[in-house]
Amino acid sequence: MRADPLDYLTHELSSLREQGLYRRLRVLDGEQTARASVDHRSVVNLSSNNYLGLTTHPKLRERASEALSALGVGTGSVRTIAGTMEIHMELERRLAAFKKTEAAVVFQSGFTANAGTVSSILGRDDAIVSDELNHASIIDGARLSRATVKVFPHRDIGAARTVLEALPRGQRTLLITDGVFSMDGDLGALPALCDLADEFGCIMMVDDAHASGVFGQHGRGTIDHFGMHGRVDVQVGTLSKAIGALGGYVAGSRSLIEFLHHRARPFLFSTSHPPSVAATCIAALEVLQTEPQWMERLWDNTRFFKGGLQALGFNTGISESPITPVIAGENALAMKLSDRLFEEGVFAQGIGFPTVPRGKARVRTIVTATHTTDELQFALDCFRKVGAELGII
Ligand SMILES: Cc1ncc(COP(=O)(O)O)c(C=O)c1O
Repeated sequence: MRADPLDYLTHELSSLREQGLYRRLRVLDGEQTARASVDHRSVVNLSSNNYLGLTTHPKLRERASEALSALGVGTGSVRTIAGTMEIHMELERRLAAFKKTEAAVVFQSGFTANAGTVSSILGRDDAIVSDELNHASIIDGARLSRATVKVFPHRDIGAARTVLEALPRGQRTLLITDGVFSMDGDLGALPALCDLADEFGCIMMVDDAHASGVFGQHGRGTIDHFGMHGRVDVQVGTLSKAIGALGGYVAGSRSLIEFLHHRARPFLFSTSHPPSVAATCIAALEVLQTEPQWMERLWDNTRFFKGGLQALGFNTGISESPITPVIAGENALAMKLSDRLFEEGVFAQGIGFPTVPRGKARVRTIVTATHTTDELQFALDCFRKVGAELGII
């Protein structure tokens, strides 16, 4: 019989099991909601990025259905051949207005927006200066670009300056940060980085995946929150988190966007969004304008839950956003915390090394606008019970 050439993968999986890092996929039995049925169990769901509860908003459902009936289920082509519909153009006009830029372009995901952009606007002779905790899609885009990559310690502006000073004068350089860091929930050091970008003549890029719909006026993101309009050359956002659907986008100057039309590989070589997704996203942008109550509730819930965890004595790190980590320490302890919470009726995913530094394994919680106070209090009671049982508090 033929030996299995993929046998080494089975060994890798065994090693993950030994380290307590093997995770079975949890499966939602129904919709992505604040209280959800996961693996046939009703739980308070603290694991989604559905910040504003838009995954099930009636207006978004209605627009998706209308587009499905009027325009079909798919586009049948990449954007540059036959896959651009008027509804894609409309979404991009709305996104540019939302981000206060000249133009915008939509990608299939936030991941491809980052990776496709970084890899196409930089090349072998250029440099990328990147926060150490930037998202994987930025890291992959940087590798694909073949530029020289220099990483500075998280939010360390002094170190970023030292890196920039050491680069050859005149070398084209991208300075890049996440707007909100997905594992710790803290904000990128945007004003100070924009100052550095001005001083050293860098291209300034921000990945606002977790900030759009959450920070700034009507959810415009951290650039708006910090008053940095006009100082960030490349803004990335996602349509997969607060917007509730799927996709990513880049907002910036007309030339940037036209260049991406010609050179960003996911735009050129992968099929465009179904029209129903574009319609959903347009409706979500309207909701951000007309229904400010969702952002208000998101922040009320964030204060309530974060304050509750801190009052119980948990280490919640340096979060400034609805993402609140509960840092447990070793991988096995964080996974145990997550598993016990699930048994008690709370779904909060465990995250360990190498996604976060060794000894900082955690359960990551994200509240949404649609959690009720009772649901959040129930979750806090479960955290108290399980945290004490495991000796974390
Ligand atoms: C900071 C950050 N950037 C980009 C992405 C990718 O976004 P998407 O899920 O739309 O691909 C994520 C999400 O996983 C993220 O956390």
